[in-house]
Amino acid sequence: AQALRLGIAGLGTVGVGVVKIVRRQAALLAARTGRPIEIAAVSARYAGKDRGVSLSGYDWEDDAVALARRDDVDVFVELMGGSDGPAKAATEAALAAGKDVVTANKALLAIHGQSLAEQAEAAGRVIRFEAAVAGGIPVIKALTESLAGNDITRVMGVMNGTCNYILTRMESEGLGYNALFEECAKLGYLEADPNLDVGGIDAAHKLALLAAIAFGTKPDFDAVEIEGIQRISLDDIHQAADMGYRIKLLGVAKRTPRGLEQRMQPCLVPAESPLGRLEGGTNMVVIEGDAVDRIVLHGPGAGEGPTASAVLGDICDLARGFRLPTFGQPAASLEQAQPARTGLP
Ligand code: NDP
Ligand code: HSE
Repeated sequence: AQALRLGIAGLGTVGVGVVKIVRRQAALLAARTGRPIEIAAVSARYAGKDRGVSLSGYDWEDDAVALARRDDVDVFVELMGGSDGPAKAATEAALAAGKDVVTANKALLAIHGQSLAEQAEAAGRVIRFEAAVAGGIPVIKALTESLAGNDITRVMGVMNGTCNYILTRMESEGLGYNALFEECAKLGYLEADPNLDVGGIDAAHKLALLAAIAFGTKPDFDAVEIEGIQRISLDDIHQAADMGYRIKLLGVAKRTPRGLEQRMQPCLVPAESPLGRLEGGTNMVVIEGDAVDRIVLHGPGAGEGPTASAVLGDICDLARGFRLPTFGQPAASLEQAQPARTGLP
């Protein structure tokens, strides 16, 4: 069968993880999807950098937009990050050139997701982004596919590995921010701008995407009420522990009589609850629907292997010909869904 040819832009934590899986699991991926999955070309900022993985056999492009337009690329894999700049330009170029896109970039989609989804739909292309929310946990697939028969009433959870790592390590080790930032960097958890992590913004990007899928609306990042963890002190953490609670950066999106409510903020949760027991870089997403009642998804929310795992899931879906629209339903009906949802209990 014809190979699915990838163009990968971004060879940092996630990009290198994807290259490793494609190289290591070539036979398994081909057997599972019915066709070889190959890397045609790659791109990053610095061509000569040692990335700890062989890039032999792949063409190099200095410019991600040029990579996105290559004739020998079927799927553009965007792993550079950033809500604008080359990530946006190259994603738009890829769609315009008739390529599908796989991305881990929640910032890009939380802010420009609707216009990109519309561009993709007009071009008959899809954008897949399982890795953008909760790392290795298949939460997008759960919402768009497995729970498609449900009226979703609430989604909530811990969606930033860095914050959960910092909060749990502060409690267990009494360590301050600086030492913990270094540990998070080594683990590959941090955003290029770590203020996005500790400021709750990265988690809010993820919540906006989940809410859009769950409630059939546009991603509305500006409507998320956000408070980060920067002001949480060791004293706060120890006082909470004394009362049997832990502090978690918790996101909640639910329908209210006033419309969709989205909040991302530090919350007290019972220490012995599933959310309270969440350690390190793990994430947990709770989804409530009228038929399923409540499901809890739990797993690694950041880092090379888990995030690359989610990217490969999307790539394999495209190789198999699964082509669900970007937010699980056509962009046109997203437009119509928003007013209809407002005011529902
Ligand atoms: P890194 O910072 O490790 O890697 C970014 C890569 O993009 C680098 O290879 C860098 O090149 C390249 N790059 C950055 N800016 C440019 C530019 N202007 N032009 C060309 N290439 C550029 O990031 P991550 O791998 O951690 O994250 C990538 C994406 O995945 C982000 O959107 C992030 O939010 C998302 N994500 C990350 C997770 C994680 O756990 N790390 C989890 C889920 C999503 P060079 O190496 O040459 O500097
Ligand atoms: N910086 C993010 C986190 C990466 O810590 O959760 C995963 O999206």
